[in-house]
Amino acid sequence: MQVRLAVISNAGGSGKTTLSVHLAYELALHKYEVALFDLDPQGSLTLFCGLQPPEPEETLAAVLKDNFDGSWPLTPCWSKHTDKVVLCQGGMVLTQTADELVLHKRGAYLLGDCLTDYPLKQELIIFDCPATLGPLPLMALAACTHVIIPVQLEPKSIQGAAHLIEWYYYHCKHLRLNPSPEIMGFVPNQYNSQRGTHRQILAALPEQLKQINLRAFPEIRDSAEFVNASGQGLPIHLYRPSHPARGDFKAITSELINLIGKPANKTKKKK
Ligand SMILES: Nc1ncnc2c1ncn2[C@@H]1O[C@H](COP(=O)(O)OP(=O)(O)O)[C@@H](O)[C@H]1O
Ligand SMILES: [Mg+2]
Repeated sequence: MQVRLAVISNAGGSGKTTLSVHLAYELALHKYEVALFDLDPQGSLTLFCGLQPPEPEETLAAVLKDNFDGSWPLTPCWSKHTDKVVLCQGGMVLTQTADELVLHKRGAYLLGDCLTDYPLKQELIIFDCPATLGPLPLMALAACTHVIIPVQLEPKSIQGAAHLIEWYYYHCKHLRLNPSPEIMGFVPNQYNSQRGTHRQILAALPEQLKQINLRAFPEIRDSAEFVNASGQGLPIHLYRPSHPARGDFKAITSELINLIGKPANKTKKKK
């Protein structure tokens, strides 16, 4: 199965791009092919993947034009280390795309349409969304099979996530998504055990989520090495190979692997 995972939250700095990058690299380590999609006009994935800013015609904006012919603009990431991850870049040009989407007859469905008309071989597609719940995340919602929600353990972030859940239900119904994408869960990010609010919110979260039939994944720790790694355009696995934070994505990785099944290109054992 091809899993299309939308990383959505309506708070800036909650760790959407960090989560996208690290899940992509972990799945690559498990021999899965991954395509990252940058739906954010900020274009952070370009930086986090150590790439150069693209020309507009090499971005997702070109894919969403009516004359798109299936030539996906996909750039290899961390190519010294893996041949399994590619990125469809975003950037400022997507602000114009967002305006155009509002007027387009298939607006919210456009990315899903492109993926139906010109399927990608990758087993995991990750949509890294911007923080505002506008036309770009809506398009990700309509194109994805699963949603994952990173949250900071701050009251404001948790309240924002509650609004996000309302947005999700409203638009699944309104866009008549059938089946609706599944919310994999919340991912508490930047957890600092020294902080009382973090400890309290983390402790209360599973029960709160259970009441709305959702779950929390294990927390991702707060570490300056995430910031340093992103500045070097690397996942923490490559920047600090022995850093314990690299283990923080394990539960999500296992769940994704369960959903996808065995990697497609795994060579059969010779007799
Ligand atoms: N677990 C973490 N510990 C420390 N810094 C983090 C962590 N996750 C993300 N960051 C940093 O916080 C900032 C915002 O993260 P980012 O992934 O860009 O969020 P978003 O995409 O939601 O805006 C970045 O500088 C990133 O390096
Ligand atoms: Mg981001």
